[in-house]
Amino acid sequence: MQSCEISADSTDDPLSSGLRRKRQPRIVVIGAGLAGLSAAKALLESGFTDVTILEATDRIGGRVQSVKLGHATFELGATWIHGSHGNPVYHLAEDNGLLEETTDGERSVGRISLYSKNGVAYHLTNSGQRIPKDVVEEFSDLYNEVYNLTQEFFQRGKPVNAESQNSVGVFTRDVVRKRVKADPDDTEAVKRLKLAMIQQYLKVESCESSSHSMDEVSLSEFGEWTEIPGAHHIIPCGFIKIVEILARSIPESVIQLRKPVKCIHWNQSVSKEIETVADHNSDLPEEDKGSDVFVECEDCEFIPADHVIVTVSLGVLKKRHESLFHPRLPEEKVMAIEKLGINTTDKIFLEFEEPFWSSECNSIQFVWEDEAESESLTYPEELWYKKICSFDVLYPPERYGHVLSGWICGEEALIMEKCDDETVAETCTEMLRKFTGNPNIPKPRRILRSSWGSNPNFRGSYSYTQVGSSGADVEKLAKPLPYAESSKTAPMQVMFSGEATHRKYYSTTHGAVLSGQREAAHLIEMYQDLLQCQS
Ligand SMILES: Cc1cc2nc3c(=O)[nH]c(=O)nc-3n(C[C@H](O)[C@H](O)[C@H](O)COP(=O)(O)OP(=O)(O)OC[C@H]3O[C@@H](n4cnc5c(N)ncnc54)[C@H](O)[C@@H]3O)c2cc1C
Ligand SMILES: *[C@@H]1O[C@H](CO)[C@@H](O)[C@H](O)[C@H]1NC(C)=O
Ligand SMILES: *[C@@H]1O[C@H](CO)[C@@H](O)[C@H](O)[C@H]1NC(C)=O
Ligand SMILES: *[C@@H]1O[C@H](CO)[C@@H](O)[C@H](O)[C@H]1NC(C)=O
Repeated sequence: MQSCEISADSTDDPLSSGLRRKRQPRIVVIGAGLAGLSAAKALLESGFTDVTILEATDRIGGRVQSVKLGHATFELGATWIHGSHGNPVYHLAEDNGLLEETTDGERSVGRISLYSKNGVAYHLTNSGQRIPKDVVEEFSDLYNEVYNLTQEFFQRGKPVNAESQNSVGVFTRDVVRKRVKADPDDTEAVKRLKLAMIQQYLKVESCESSSHSMDEVSLSEFGEWTEIPGAHHIIPCGFIKIVEILARSIPESVIQLRKPVKCIHWNQSVSKEIETVADHNSDLPEEDKGSDVFVECEDCEFIPADHVIVTVSLGVLKKRHESLFHPRLPEEKVMAIEKLGINTTDKIFLEFEEPFWSSECNSIQFVWEDEAESESLTYPEELWYKKICSFDVLYPPERYGHVLSGWICGEEALIMEKCDDETVAETCTEMLRKFTGNPNIPKPRRILRSSWGSNPNFRGSYSYTQVGSSGADVEKLAKPLPYAESSKTAPMQVMFSGEATHRKYYSTTHGAVLSGQREAAHLIEMYQDLLQCQS
């Protein structure tokens, strides 16, 4: 890696900071995902003219990534708009006619099929048996009852007891197990099936929360994540349409792609350096030399700014915060970054020549009978596929072809990412043969999958409240730097937005959009006099 040096004229111009106030503040947004684009759009619409977005990759959208194969669009990242009224993503989609009329049957409900009401989920075991519908229904009711209990700790301030280790996984497994074992109506065989189902449901839950396992997800904070009421919608022409609509109001020149940021020099650290550097070969305009912040890019360009809005994922912050900020982040901020959780949820799309599933089947859920008594859900490397919880059937086939969409999370998702397409396709097909009891399922025609965990620009799928963290850590993550006594006097050199900075809606597209708008609103308020003058 190159090291960049800044050399500059010495400047002792006492007017430089005065001059800065007269011109438009310079705002640099790092990341062209939903948070960054929403922030930039709001700033530009309020009259700011000096806004730049720096994006590491060669595309906008970040964790929204729609891939077109033939006529169909597949989502490697975000898929569902969760909830309707009050959800800014829903309103964008609705206002732009992106939501097709859906009958109840066609509507996707829930992020994964566990909560799907259309069609039937097939719960299959590794001995090739289908678990009877009534057993699945009974178990599902029991699981949902216990899920409801997990919500009460936050919502009603119910104290957690030590046995639960403040973990959703430990608590759920214990309570469901006790109830299954105590049920006098079930035979031993049915009890065993239900015990195995707990593990499968927890894998699904873990895919939904993008954790390694539910044992890492905080019980006392679980209920803080808030659901916006309403149906869950997909965007048939691709979620990327939302991104394109946001970007429409942003001039092309504002967005710089393939422009990875290496370090954010804040607290006037570069300005102070310029003051003490003696040589006279700076090409920086005089007015930039006193800038509070300099954004150093991997290509060695230093971009002066008054305000920087950082939207990179919590995963990127975890991995890189030490080198990404100069001076280093305050201890409180580092603690929040370390305590909050993010892990990997990946999707595996398999396209088959012909469906081998019945038309009523909306998903295949993998229940391993040998896991009935297991505690943790961590596997030796070669057994990574045991973490795949299910395959959803994409509907309707006229749109997608005969495609299954699989889910895997945690460490095992990272192992899957390292395998080649051939291995993953073969392993998944073998698994489908075993669980359906049909040894003749042919290999899929095509495979497509995500790799959010190992991608250096993401390092994970989305955030969750890890055991030991709380909503207060989300607030700490969002707090602008340097810290100030009151928000009125805060210089707001470095601001934070992105999915993980939204206390109630973290992990979602609407959380990302709202967090971008929130940080823009701080700057709009700060400069209201200037903005009013020019309008
Ligand atoms: C598999 C998956 C499924 C999901 N499903 C749903 C769903 O159904 N519904 C839903 O609402 N949400 C879902 N989400 C979550 C949703 O996609 C995210 O919450 C949201 O897109 C995050 O937006 P963001 O702007 O906060 O971050 P990002 O989209 O990550 O944007 C940050 C940007 O910063 C860039 N960047 C990183 N480092 C640098 C650097 N050094 N310099 C410059 N740029 C940099 C990145 O390339 C990226 O473009 C899903 C996510 C995944 C991964
Ligand atoms: C769980 O709680 C929701 C909302 O309070 C309620 O509608 C639902 O019936 C409950 N489910 C079970 C299985 O108790
Ligand atoms: C920021 O700069 C001031 C003044 O030079 C200094 O006292 C302070 O310690 C710096 N803060 C950090 C976090 O480095
Ligand atoms: C996810 O969790 C596993 C297991 O704890 C860990 O090895 C990995 O680094 C985590 N991070 C990501 C991005 O998946």
